[in-house]
Amino acid sequence: MCGIFGYCGQRRAAPIIIEGLKRLEYRGYDSFGIAVMDQGITVRKKQGKISLGASDLSRVKGKMGIGHTRWATHGEPNNQNAHPHLDCHDSIAVVHNGIIENYAGLKRELQARGHGFRSETDTEVIPHLIEEEFKGDLAAAVSAVLPRLEGSYALLVIATGCGEMVAARKRSPLVIGIGDRACLAASDVTPLLEHTERVIYLEDGDIASLSTGGIEIRHQGTRVKRPVQKIDWSLAEVKKGGFAHYMLKEIYEQPEVFSSTMRALKEEEIPDILQDTGGVTLVACGTSYHAALLCRYLIEEHCGIPARVELASEFKYFTSPGGDLVVGVSQSGETADTLAAMQKARMFSHPTLAVTNVLGSTITRLADHTLFMRAGPEISVAATKSFIAELAVFFHLVDRLAGGALEHSLGRGHLAIGEALLQDLSQAVDLCRNAQSMFFVGRGPFYPLALEGALKMKEITYIHAEGYAAGEIKHGPFALLSPETPVVALCPPGHAFPVMFSNIKEMKARGTPMIVLGVQGTQDLEEISDVFIPLPDGGIISHILASAALVQLLAYHTAVALGRDVDQPRNLAKSVTVE
Ligand code: AGP
Repeated sequence: MCGIFGYCGQRRAAPIIIEGLKRLEYRGYDSFGIAVMDQGITVRKKQGKISLGASDLSRVKGKMGIGHTRWATHGEPNNQNAHPHLDCHDSIAVVHNGIIENYAGLKRELQARGHGFRSETDTEVIPHLIEEEFKGDLAAAVSAVLPRLEGSYALLVIATGCGEMVAARKRSPLVIGIGDRACLAASDVTPLLEHTERVIYLEDGDIASLSTGGIEIRHQGTRVKRPVQKIDWSLAEVKKGGFAHYMLKEIYEQPEVFSSTMRALKEEEIPDILQDTGGVTLVACGTSYHAALLCRYLIEEHCGIPARVELASEFKYFTSPGGDLVVGVSQSGETADTLAAMQKARMFSHPTLAVTNVLGSTITRLADHTLFMRAGPEISVAATKSFIAELAVFFHLVDRLAGGALEHSLGRGHLAIGEALLQDLSQAVDLCRNAQSMFFVGRGPFYPLALEGALKMKEITYIHAEGYAAGEIKHGPFALLSPETPVVALCPPGHAFPVMFSNIKEMKARGTPMIVLGVQGTQDLEEISDVFIPLPDGGIISHILASAALVQLLAYHTAVALGRDVDQPRNLAKSVTVE
């Protein structure tokens, strides 16, 4: 949830750390801080966003340091609770992403032994524990402390008088960058791209010492070598490139993302576990869950395989993991609940497949097989192009397993998204921007799209929005319909059309403003709509892709009209690495 960044090299560390944290800010943005080593450790912390308040921090001297941008879990976002945290003598500094579950007991013990605490965070126990173990070898002290920590962590530690920065991870991501006479460490690869394309993904349990002399990694006391990987994302991809927001840039990248994911997958073999399976269970969270839910309809229709879709956060409460094959879907590959669901599947000896966007992410190490989407780095908190890329992966799999049943439509997918991007949504935005509450409805594969439309709307505009299966609306939510409650209805042609058409008329009869997505000339759909948004001609795949882009754009333009912080909505973070 938080972003951590460390630098050790020949240049002034503070400005490099600050730039690194800016690239990680999408992971958490309520407060930030740096600790830089010169004669001693200088710490600077601030409440708020790093992009708005870090200019004076760049002057701090020193060539090695660590930084943190926070998404608060323990203690409110303020200067005291911001990282880095220090020991009693201000000579050991720690930044941490994750949660120390047993911190309360450790804190009591440390207090009883005379340690003074300055924050309400779980993290602060770590520098105090290291203080008790530190006798000049920082890596040894960290290694002695880690077995006492329950929970998850990616840690960076520096100590006065030590020429090394120590990195450690357990169930939270941490990547090492190999620079030119410099070592870097970060929560993900995006801030490393400016410095290097060579990275090492640490494994759970690894402890790395980083210094200008190089990198040494130990695992359970033994020195180990981890592969150096080349990142194929470019620096341009992590910049806004003239767009007002990352979200808009990422929405406009979707035609290319869809095509490139398709192209890349054509070159890959379908894993045997997929060809031979008698059933699949898909597990995911948020937008990735909606992608999985949508694909269930296609898997069952075209492949004749039973498919079950579960929220990863609920999966642990089921006694049986369901179908033969468990598929974890996660853009980041680091979502804690999805990882836990994959672990549970492994415990039951089920074969596992990961669908992810991030090479080297934790999910790739948990799964038997991985299929990569080619969305490129997604910076905006709202997932857009990764949703399209997830659909691309599933559409491709369904097509291959069903002997090319979707091939023709898939070749036109990028055109459908491109057409959707040309639509003028201003009338629909005018209806939405004044709403307190709204609904998105659909049937079949358009029901998960309704869920996704509502999720996008609520997360970036803060308008209360509910996604509903259109058939469920009469079972309760109808009571909420009024002229102040717009409804977005996804109503493409197909076998659900007649009943959707009736549902729209029923809602309209309650005075509800209806924003309808459909194909022009289908019955008198346009006449019964308050705002009609045309979908391109074509089959169901085109309608799905165009509808996805349109609900994203509707949320985006409504958020802009309301003056919201589109890329970093309140209370959220891109990567949810705690359960
Ligand atoms: C949606 O816009 C969110 N970013 C969120 O729902 C996200 O899809 C969810 O947290 C899952 O993330 P993942 O795909 O990285 O696992």
